[in-house]
Amino acid sequence: MATKINNGNGNGKLNNRPTDLRELLILKLESLYDIEQELIKALPKMAKGATHPELNAAFNEHLKQTKEHAKRLEHGLKLLGAKVSKLKTEGIRGIIKDGEWIIHTIKDEDARDASLVAAAQYAEHYEIAGYDAAKKWADILGLNEVKDLLSETLKEEEETSKKLEGLAKSEINSHVAISSI
Ligand SMILES: [Fe+2]
Repeated sequence: MATKINNGNGNGKLNNRPTDLRELLILKLESLYDIEQELIKALPKMAKGATHPELNAAFNEHLKQTKEHAKRLEHGLKLLGAKVSKLKTEGIRGIIKDGEWIIHTIKDEDARDASLVAAAQYAEHYEIAGYDAAKKWADILGLNEVKDLLSETLKEEEETSKKLEGLAKSEINSHVAISSI
């Protein structure tokens, strides 16, 4: 991993803070930026693979939000005095590959939708864990503006996760249950 230079942002509060946590925060934002960019490419495929209109709408809605999340990270990196760049994160690529496997392999539409909901939940929980850590680090560093940006996205990721949970509990899974009787 490349060594980062602390560029500083003129915030006097940071003078006595360890620079390594700030550097870790920059790396975390770059990793989240990579994750969001990968999801921007994957979500249209997930939407296309979904049959249930509510699931299709949920993926398209989340695509719009994901583009916003990426912009917020760009803003966050600029606030930290860092260049906007991506840190390649393997985990999200594995999660997306699993989603693609579902689209190509599961032929039954209801079963495919139920599996896509579960795959999307992997992505949401993964993002939530990342944003939660980044938000805590921004808080420790007293970087309130960065923390607020991360909190906003975290809230939306949690709302999406709840929406997916609702879809899993309702029609989609009951369709699978009925069609497998
Ligand atoms: Fe996101």
